[in-house]
Amino acid sequence: MSQRPHNGTVFGRRAFLAGSAATAAVTALPGTALGAERTNSVTLTAAKARVPIVGPPHPMTDVWCYNGTSPGPVLRARQGSRLKVVVRNRLTEPTTVHWHGLRVPNNMDGVPYVTQPPIVPGQDFTYDFALPDAGTYWYHPHVNGSEQVGRGLAGALIVEELSPPRVDRDVLWVLDDWRLTRRAAIAGNFGHPRDLSHAGRLGNTATINGRVPTRFTIRAGERIRLRLVNVANARTFGLKFEGHAPKIVALDGQPVSPHEPPGGMIVLAAAQRADVILDATGEPGTRIRVLDAYYRRSAYKLVELDYAKTRLRPAVPDWPFDLRANPLAAPDLKSAQRHEILLEGGAMGGRITARGAQPMPRGAMWAINGSAMMETAKSWKPLLTLKHGTSHVFRLNNRTVFDHPMHLHGHSFRVIARNERPTNLREWRDTVLVRPRETVDIVFVADNPGDWMFHCHILEHMAAGMMAVIHVG
Ligand code: C2O
Ligand code: CU
Ligand code: CU
Repeated sequence: MSQRPHNGTVFGRRAFLAGSAATAAVTALPGTALGAERTNSVTLTAAKARVPIVGPPHPMTDVWCYNGTSPGPVLRARQGSRLKVVVRNRLTEPTTVHWHGLRVPNNMDGVPYVTQPPIVPGQDFTYDFALPDAGTYWYHPHVNGSEQVGRGLAGALIVEELSPPRVDRDVLWVLDDWRLTRRAAIAGNFGHPRDLSHAGRLGNTATINGRVPTRFTIRAGERIRLRLVNVANARTFGLKFEGHAPKIVALDGQPVSPHEPPGGMIVLAAAQRADVILDATGEPGTRIRVLDAYYRRSAYKLVELDYAKTRLRPAVPDWPFDLRANPLAAPDLKSAQRHEILLEGGAMGGRITARGAQPMPRGAMWAINGSAMMETAKSWKPLLTLKHGTSHVFRLNNRTVFDHPMHLHGHSFRVIARNERPTNLREWRDTVLVRPRETVDIVFVADNPGDWMFHCHILEHMAAGMMAVIHVG
């Protein structure tokens, strides 16, 4: 099982470690705080820029990004309002924007050829949709995803509850993983066959809010709502806050019964989010390490919590923390239709046993029920057609030796079993990590009509065919 970062063309496992001389404190991102009006408008311009990912004395990094920063501006809006986003393509290739995790109408979903024509260079496209669900979401292109996201096109989108629970600070950490050269430039080997057929494009430089961080200042007694978003192409993060007991209160934007994660590790596969209550139980003047320990043999310190000299209050508050459930349709398990979904392919024992409805396209290395779909496909046959309003159980059966964070557009689903054992949390998600040789059962109501992508969010797996269309109608 080879899930370790590969260092191929780049040097050292962690190119720019947090803690090296010139790295910076965690910075807040530029945000577009959208008011409580019924419609909020914003423009996102996708273009090239130079940004200080590693920080001086290292050179700046050439990226592709929204509005000159990577990640792009934080879009913040109120639950129940509308969002109108004019996307201007000033790149040299087509793009789109997909609103990951949001239940938008199909024609606003940002999938080229499936829901809209790609936005060609020089053109604009206006997205306009309602925000029925509160939570932590994100946006990214759905064209040439491995390269466009890998070069920096991604941003967070926060839908605020009408009455948010009380905290001292609402903090966003957009986690990313870059493959940089010694000169802090983005390594150009996108689409390398080894990345496509193994664990995806794992990088060598982890960032928080687009910078290699050293420290995050915190005060004893403080309560923080920490929103974590993993925008990496492939890396799963496993965050451990030494000596602290953060509680997960939402996953992929959807409230979950507050719980401490197993082993104290907050796992975020590519595209996943977690909202965490972090109570500052440490002592003034101390430093606490935050580790990323998902890949055990290459755990590293991501950042340090740097406790201020003085307390905010004598002890952490015991304010109630209740998030109201979003208005998601409750699936009916009794009437649900069951579907077996085989995930096959990749390196090392990845034989494709199922016979798909269509021949395997050129360049495909992965398959879903024996079929593959490329990002550039202009025609397709749906993997499944689901009747509008009916409930469905997918048994995701991972027959490969790699992780696959599987994502469904336009819907959230409940994760009800792993290896046929019921889950405790029955958590709602839009992206679920299916480990090697594991089966995961998810259930949802197909209540959003249209053609919806269902794909692995390791963007190199997606680029090599691990994608399908689910038709709801
Ligand atoms: Cu963030 Cu089709 O995905
Ligand atoms: Cu999505
Ligand atoms: Cu995958």
